[in-house]
Amino acid sequence: MADPLVRLDKITKRFGDTTALSELDLDIAQGEFVTFLGPSGCGKSTTLRILGGFEQPGSGRVLLRGDDVTRLPPERRNVNMVFQDYALFPHMTVKQNIAFGLELKGMGKAEIAARQDEIMSFLELGAFGGRYPAQLSGGQRQRVALARALAPDPALLLLDEPLGALDAKLRGQVQQELKSIQRRTDKTFFFVTHDQEEALTMSDRIVVMNKGKVEQDGTPEDLYFHPASRFVAEFIGETNLLTGDLRGTDGDAVVMDWFGQTLRGHAPGGIPQTGAPITASVRLERLGCHATRPATANAVQGRVVGKTFLGSRMALDLLVDDARGARLRAYVDARTGQSVGDAPVWIGWDESSMAVLRD
Ligand SMILES: Nc1ncnc2c1ncn2[C@@H]1O[C@H](COP(=O)(O)OP(=O)(O)OP(=O)(O)O)[C@@H](O)[C@H]1O
Ligand SMILES: [Mg+2]
Repeated sequence: MADPLVRLDKITKRFGDTTALSELDLDIAQGEFVTFLGPSGCGKSTTLRILGGFEQPGSGRVLLRGDDVTRLPPERRNVNMVFQDYALFPHMTVKQNIAFGLELKGMGKAEIAARQDEIMSFLELGAFGGRYPAQLSGGQRQRVALARALAPDPALLLLDEPLGALDAKLRGQVQQELKSIQRRTDKTFFFVTHDQEEALTMSDRIVVMNKGKVEQDGTPEDLYFHPASRFVAEFIGETNLLTGDLRGTDGDAVVMDWFGQTLRGHAPGGIPQTGAPITASVRLERLGCHATRPATANAVQGRVVGKTFLGSRMALDLLVDDARGARLRAYVDARTGQSVGDAPVWIGWDESSMAVLRD
């Protein structure tokens, strides 16, 4: 296989007593839109800064197209970064901000002018060339930061929470814009966010980070429906967590006991250890409610004890085991939702809808 565009090879980074990154391995292919997702302090910015050359790892290597660039300064890496706080130069106009990276590259005046015009028209900044950052809106500043980073035509663009300062509506627009820029330019984008919805809508691939390590790496669908760990199941979307005892395996299925019910699931993160209780995740929209026993791998009886109208759908709170308080929550069609009451309902779901979690 050809060398990936980026390879992080066992990167460790400590700041005093804090281990920001612990033997981090990661490959990124040319043209991918990869999102780094994780809670505050998990090491996202540190990874980007190491990739960009703004920080040195304690150990491990950074490879770009197979070349070791670990000790190379930022300007010799063909990588550009949009920082968490934009970091536009306040005393420079939009045009001067864009020219900055081009001058660093040693481009001539005429070439710089042509590239400035090209990138400003591409990002619809033509009217703002003479303005200073303080005279722009948040979204416009965002586009200038992008223009400045894209102008030198880097092989890889690192974007550290570039949309954090935008309000919800503008954020949605800029998300679409970023995604379309990435498609049109066929650039490789490595995008950092701690917003799971943003990650799901924008990425080809999501790398979930936790405490300086990769927790899970996959497509948005993979991570959402087949979380490997409790951390991923809870960090991305809403879910039912069922804690019970491992009974064993049956072919590819993992069999567990949950309040006396035998349930079948799959184990995307590997089969957990026996001996301790295990936990499985089932998304709310994967549960079906029926009047009679459904033909799904898993079927339990319960009562509807609560009902919330959410517009496009209805959330049902289901009590499965009165005495021990086993509950499930399901999303059903808003018009066909069951009524609250004592009449028992059947709740069914497939083996593939239940991910038994590694930890
Ligand atoms: N220069 C530094 N000196 C000391 N500790 C640092 C330094 N930079 C980062 N850290 C620590 O390393 C850890 C990872 O920080 P990092 O900035 O990579 O987190 P992050 O995932 O980007 O978080 P956020 O979502 O809040 O931006 C944190 O515990 C942070 O306090
Ligand atoms: Mg950060």
